[in-house]
Amino acid sequence: MKYTEGMLRDGAMEGKNILITGGGTGLGRSMGEYFLKLGANLIITSRRLDVLQQTADEMQNSFGGKVLALRCDVREIEQVEKMWAEANAELGQIHGVLNNAAGNFISPTEMLSANAFQTVVDIVQKGTSNVTLTAGKHWIKNKQQGTFLNIVTTYAWTGSGYVVPSAVAKAGVLALTRSLAVEWAKFQIRSNAIAPGPFPTEGAWSRLLPGELVKKFDPAKKIPVGRVGEHQELANLAAYLMSDFSAFVNGEVVTIDGGEWLKGAGE
Ligand code: HXC
Repeated sequence: MKYTEGMLRDGAMEGKNILITGGGTGLGRSMGEYFLKLGANLIITSRRLDVLQQTADEMQNSFGGKVLALRCDVREIEQVEKMWAEANAELGQIHGVLNNAAGNFISPTEMLSANAFQTVVDIVQKGTSNVTLTAGKHWIKNKQQGTFLNIVTTYAWTGSGYVVPSAVAKAGVLALTRSLAVEWAKFQIRSNAIAPGPFPTEGAWSRLLPGELVKKFDPAKKIPVGRVGEHQELANLAAYLMSDFSAFVNGEVVTIDGGEWLKGAGE
């Protein structure tokens, strides 16, 4: 078996309806495609309905299952509540939420306007809280089990220059993950997080390694295992944490970065 292969058996997510914010592109899309292959149905959201709808059509054609594309800016609680109601009306009970929507750019912090700082915090932290509150309240009221999986990053705990609003917001998302893992476990609601390292995508990759930086990025020097991640490796982890196989995993953050974040400490 190779690490580029799917890990879980066919049907491992049969009957599950999973919401993925920011599910139209990049890693959100890759994780969604694997969930579909495993038998799940999806609700994917983002601000761009044209991109979403195209993704939904392509996904359904390739992998079957149902993919519902719903426009939603996660910063706006009214839009989140409307999206959640539509998703439930269309697909019935939703079993899992992958909080994947993010916004980020590199900038010296002293160059940021207050609005620029707040924009990133709002997409990442407020957006995740909005979706989590909406889903959690619904699940608790209707006595439904649920699973949250939140995408963070290792600089949520190490901190990082030049992406400070993102670091601040991701630290908040990690705190939310751990706090609700304790508070909401009694309602059969689990919360976990994944901290992905370098996985090439069109969007985030070009934003975080713009221009010449991408040419200078040498995985052999930066990452102990000597390579970047394959999307399937992340999808395998996400599917495990979203599935019932991980029923006893709660409040955990799993880093998948080839050891990148520890490299500075170890050398
Ligand atoms: C400085 C910037 C900027 C930049 C925008 N702003 N881009 N400031 N450098 N590169 C400022 C604007 O001037 C404005 O401030 C404020 O931010 C809001 O900008 P808008 O364009 O109006 O905001 P909006 O349309 O909401 O767009 C949000 C966004 C955008 C974050 C700026 O890039 C976006 O929508 N991104 C979504 C996708 C994304 O970023 N994905 C990457 C996630 S990767 P003023 O003062 O002028 O009003 C990720 C991985 C992390 O998170 C892990 C890494 C290992």
